[in-house]
Amino acid sequence: MRLLVTGGAGFIGSTFVRRRLAATDDTIVVLDKLTYAGNTANLDEVTTAADTADRVRFVRGDIADPELVGELVKDVDAVVNFAAESHVDRSILEPAAFLTTGVQGVHTLLEAVMAAQASRGGAPIRFLQVSTDEVYGPVPAGLSVEADALRPSSPYSAAKAAGELLAHAYRETHGLDIVITRGANTYGPHQYPEKLIPLFITNAIMDLPLPMYGDGMQRRDWLHVDDHADGVATVLDRGVAGEAYNVSGEGVERPNRAVTEAVLAELGKPWSLVRTVPDRPGHDRRYALDGSKLRALGWAPRTGFDDGIRQTVRWYRDNEAWWRAGRSGDWDDYYQRQYGWRLERSAQA
Ligand code: NAD
Ligand code: TYD
Repeated sequence: MRLLVTGGAGFIGSTFVRRRLAATDDTIVVLDKLTYAGNTANLDEVTTAADTADRVRFVRGDIADPELVGELVKDVDAVVNFAAESHVDRSILEPAAFLTTGVQGVHTLLEAVMAAQASRGGAPIRFLQVSTDEVYGPVPAGLSVEADALRPSSPYSAAKAAGELLAHAYRETHGLDIVITRGANTYGPHQYPEKLIPLFITNAIMDLPLPMYGDGMQRRDWLHVDDHADGVATVLDRGVAGEAYNVSGEGVERPNRAVTEAVLAELGKPWSLVRTVPDRPGHDRRYALDGSKLRALGWAPRTGFDDGIRQTVRWYRDNEAWWRAGRSGDWDDYYQRQYGWRLERSAQA
């Protein structure tokens, strides 16, 4: 296949690109705006290796740019849209970019797909919208199934829900070949260090405080990035048009406290680094996905949390230049806004 992978210089998108090129003969155009979270170094492995370099091309640009997107979509069989502003805390501080990319950006892609399809006599171009379990909102008990209502709590998850709904509308109205994935909280190498696991790993390496929101008993079922990328690939290849698929973790829920303990144990750092800080507003206490619909297509997560966290901690230890580059630019400003006042009001956890 010829793929357009948007947001392919980010954490999950770049993992998808690396794994897809290794597993298939596909050719891939990566379109990425290179926001603070995008990094072409995530693609170095495939843009330099002899067996993949001629099958991947990087284009810097915005999914909300109709001219550019129109040109790129003309020559592909499918679009996989990872591009998004992806951090809940930033969506609370500055929501505008979340809507520009999550609503206008998705709309621009859908229009481009429709136009390209028409110009090719109607041969379908598959559009895979990478979404998130956060669209369901908090799940006090039980497991979210794909038919559940969407009740997002944050500007981030509301923008993601909006993107999905637009994709769904283009399926209903224009018959586009749409599929949607809703992935669980994801961790692994190459994740920008603002998210819980890489933030806590890199802070702990530097003996900085680990800011744990509220009581630290919020629960997630963590998904390794390789498994998330493979779940997306499975839906791309075998998903039924019009359907959404949960990409679940291994089915073991962990409170943030347990995740923090695992990170500290792996690094040999003390619990005294952990500070309880004022909670995130609208903080979802629990997400939990029923993954059986995707499992029925032959996918299952393969990396258990203990192995995954060991490998991830090792990667951050071995790739200090990568994460130090991420913690530069506007990092100090963001960190101060997000954590400055919280750490002033913090207590030993
Ligand atoms: P990320 O922030 O690491 O990567 C996002 C990428 O999109 C970056 O490379 C960025 O430069 C690019 N981008 C942002 N706006 C763009 C625009 N307007 N045009 C082109 N490129 C743009 O995020 P991630 O964690 O890799 O998440 C990828 C996708 O997976 C997102 O859609 C996210 O909502 C979804 N998701 C993430 C998780 C998770 O736990 N990280 C879980 C479920 C779903
Ligand atoms: P995060 O990695 O931001 O993912 P999400 O909000 O998409 O679940 O956060 C994971 C959990 O960790 C969530 O319950 C919020 C919590 N958290 C903290 O306690 N402290 C932090 O500094 C961050 C970034 C997250």
